[in-house]
Amino acid sequence: MLKSTVLGLMLALASLPAAAEDARTRLDLPPEIRELFLEEMRNHMAALDGVIQLLAAGQTKEAGALARKEMAIGRGKGIGRYMPIEFRELGLAYHRSAEEFARLTESIPAKPSAEQWVQVLGGIAAITANCAGCHGVFRAQ
Ligand code: HEC
Repeated sequence: MLKSTVLGLMLALASLPAAAEDARTRLDLPPEIRELFLEEMRNHMAALDGVIQLLAAGQTKEAGALARKEMAIGRGKGIGRYMPIEFRELGLAYHRSAEEFARLTESIPAKPSAEQWVQVLGGIAAITANCAGCHGVFRAQ
């Protein structure tokens, strides 16, 4: 069973399109802006991890506050002006989903019910859908 799962996974990976067929739109960024941008992305990754760690520790409101604080786009680094409008729209949607998650956590009690946990998870899912959505459309190099 495990063997066939592993084999299936290997076959699936082998059939992924090669990098040459990459259909994502390439962002044309000056090298120093690209560095800043990727650094910012790594911060978003760390922020997402931080939010999930807080949720796992039962600190729902703190998780929301961290999302609000850290998941702002560009945070005034001036990267946005190098980006095409479609990218900025996806970025805004991402920012909004983090804000909505923060607001949701404000209405969740210290001991959430099962239904409320599903709501919280839905809020996180809306954020990660924006990460994945944009990654599917754009690349930086
Ligand atoms: C509006 C678009 C957009 C959103 C939203 C977005 N990203 Fe990215 N991210 C990118 C692009 C473009 C790259 C470069 C990918 C490439 O060149 O292959 C990138 C790269 C990254 C990288 C690699 C950084 C490096 O040093 O190479 C990480 C990690 C990352 N993103 C995490 C996230 C996480 C986590 C989220 C959501 C919480 C997120 N991103 C949301 C566009 C986005």
